[in-house]
Amino acid sequence: MKRPFAELVGTGRYSPARVMTNDEFSKILDTSDQWIRERTGIRERRISTDEETNACMGKAAALQVLGDLNMTPLDIDAIVYATASPDRLLPSQACDLQAILGAKNAAAFDVGAACAGFVYALNVAEGLVAAQHARNVLVIAAERLTKIMDWSDRATAVLFGDGAGATLVRPSSDGKRGILSQYMKSDGTLAELLYRPGGGAVHPPDTALLTDHSYFIQMAGREVFKAAVLSMADACDQALKRAGLTGADVDLMIPHQANIRIIEATAKHAGMPMDKVYVNVDRYGNTSAASVAIALDEAVRTGRLQPGMTVLLVAFGAGFTWASMVVKW
Ligand code: ACO
Repeated sequence: MKRPFAELVGTGRYSPARVMTNDEFSKILDTSDQWIRERTGIRERRISTDEETNACMGKAAALQVLGDLNMTPLDIDAIVYATASPDRLLPSQACDLQAILGAKNAAAFDVGAACAGFVYALNVAEGLVAAQHARNVLVIAAERLTKIMDWSDRATAVLFGDGAGATLVRPSSDGKRGILSQYMKSDGTLAELLYRPGGGAVHPPDTALLTDHSYFIQMAGREVFKAAVLSMADACDQALKRAGLTGADVDLMIPHQANIRIIEATAKHAGMPMDKVYVNVDRYGNTSAASVAIALDEAVRTGRLQPGMTVLLVAFGAGFTWASMVVKW
């Protein structure tokens, strides 16, 4: 298959101003800064206010991308939105964003792949471009996990944060820059290791839901950890193999920011030193689908990711889902 069909042009992000430190959690839960840092690498995370909706954060990230590219919302052909924490269950988050952005020429839909959502969405966007269904595909990943996590559960509450990231996928300008390979995989048999049991059509909202906490994210942390290490390794292997590269050819890895120990295991598997791995889990916690998107924008804006570099994006999430992509930037 001839590649690259598509490239990522422009990035953007939005992070709520409210920073919550580990010490603040230790005042409301039986936990400590030391436990959280040692087990996860997280020092602080961002918490959205009531005004910072998923759509508002997505819009801010999108406007940054469009502004940098001198484009308007009318130039967008499709919006692919990755989120596990939409503002409402119907219609899609993408349609709500389309409305407040005024992107009236676009098709808009969501991708549900949890923390792997941004990389899944990029893969879908590449497909739209390659099939010539769209030229300018806005890919958004935004999350408000702090609204769907159980603040009384120390095993999950300390992990998550809010934020948004965005990029634009369009046909490769020179046939050299862009997406060199992509990979997506799922294993639905692992779904109940990380899920929200209540609130859907099987367990519709009722009074019990308010007290049994089944509306919130539930996670078997240790099992998720093991599955995550395996799926991240598989995702690295497959994207590199499909691009005809090894870890030594990669200038920068941008992994899903769930846990520094998972990131380190992934880098080791890929044969990459940690100075070639982008890490910001310490400052944002796990922002699910938004994590790779936020890290990508930070890497671009800080100069860590330069034109001509080869970058490996790799993520895993609930489902289980995992995905990866090698991009010539
Ligand atoms: N503070 C203090 N103690 C805690 C905390 C906390 N915040 N959370 C759990 N503990 C305790 C447990 O109760 C347990 O105590 P016990 O031994 O008395 O029973 C002990 O710490 C060890 O618990 P484990 O769960 O075995 O701890 P582990 O070392 O596995 O770390 C963690 C837990 C950080 C959650 C880890 O398993 C992990 O990172 N898992 C992967 C999570 C992840 O990556 N999720 C990403 C997907 S999210 C998405 O897709 C939306």
